[in-house]
Amino acid sequence: MKLLIIGLWACFFAAAPAFSQEPQKTDDEMDMPPDMAAMVAGEGRETSYYLCSGCHSTKLVTQQRLSRDRWAYLLDWMTKEQGMAELDAESRTIILDYLSTAYGPSNTQRKTQRR
Ligand code: HEC
Repeated sequence: MKLLIIGLWACFFAAAPAFSQEPQKTDDEMDMPPDMAAMVAGEGRETSYYLCSGCHSTKLVTQQRLSRDRWAYLLDWMTKEQGMAELDAESRTIILDYLSTAYGPSNTQRKTQRR
């Protein structure tokens, strides 16, 4: 009997992957582009999303776990080598704070990404 129940659950999740991912989206997140909603919540998420998704998938960003120094280096590299517009000091701080917290080396609030 136990096995049957486990089997049924397994089928349920296999057949309905939508139910197994990101169960709690906030109302705000329902209105966001899905890739933005998939990013760790926090100040700077929106700014980072719009800036960084202009050229490439946000997955390129969210798969990283980098220190603040590495993020700073990458922002410079994006500007110097990839043609990203130079950031004003305020935006740079907001984005760096966000990235190094949300996608820092020891981030524990990372969301599972299945897409
Ligand atoms: C003007 C275009 C542009 C913008 C804006 C941009 N990037 Fe990039 N980024 C690129 C390109 C092009 C590459 C791929 C370079 C390659 O691997 O050949 C890249 C690659 C990356 C990588 C992968 C680096 C690696 O080690 O392979 C990361 C991480 C990254 N970008 C982060 C960001 C973040 C964070 C932002 C927003 C703050 C951002 N990018 C905005 C153009 C851009």
